[in-house]
Amino acid sequence: MSDGSGARIRVRGMEADDWRDAHDIWTPPDVVWGTLQVPYRSADDNRKKIENPPEGMVRLVAEIDGRVVGSAGLHPSGPPRMRHVARCGLMVHPDTWNQGVGSALVEAIVDLADNWLHIRRIELTVYTDNTPAIHLCEKFGFEIEGTLRAYAFRDGEYVDTYMMARVRVACPAPEAV
Ligand SMILES: CC(C)(COP(=O)(O)OP(=O)(O)OC[C@H]1O[C@@H](n2cnc3c(N)ncnc32)[C@H](O)[C@@H]1OP(=O)(O)O)[C@@H](O)C(=O)NCCC(=O)NCCS
Repeated sequence: MSDGSGARIRVRGMEADDWRDAHDIWTPPDVVWGTLQVPYRSADDNRKKIENPPEGMVRLVAEIDGRVVGSAGLHPSGPPRMRHVARCGLMVHPDTWNQGVGSALVEAIVDLADNWLHIRRIELTVYTDNTPAIHLCEKFGFEIEGTLRAYAFRDGEYVDTYMMARVRVACPAPEAV
């Protein structure tokens, strides 16, 4: 699905120069609806956010035919005994929903976590009425672990959120030599 194979969708690391595309992805009302973003966030605030990532944060973007249309983040941020845990976030421009961009990003996040960063548990929160996002996460092995009631305020009302996580089965032991 990615990287020079002739496929339409390419996933790569986010560059500082991607800030304007990221702003365009993060600010449409339909995207704000599914996230904890606040409407009217300025392009300047989003540029600063991208230029100053939290320690350990990995950010990816997805391109369709060279246009940046999606972004994802993986953030291992817990105390020492939670170094196997990372939070994940995901946004795709509404122009390109249902074309596999979100799937390409989650696939890359899971690959990074499993095969490169030794993250065992990837977790995220998703509003209980965000059916496309729930479906997408379940497709990649995330499970609903519980409901966080009145977790966020959205468009004038409190909304419930699922805590979802994908817990990787333990790595196979290396074969004895
Ligand atoms: C959720 C989101 C990232 C999905 O991105 P996307 O590029 O459309 O994802 P994909 O095209 O890879 O997959 C979408 C899947 O949802 C399915 N879907 C679409 N609408 C659906 C609905 N109403 N109910 C159930 N499934 C639905 C699609 O069929 C597709 O599944 P499939 O691959 O099995 O066919 C995107 O909608 C988005 O950015 N939403 C706003 C921000 C957000 O909610 N972020 C997630 C917070 S956890």
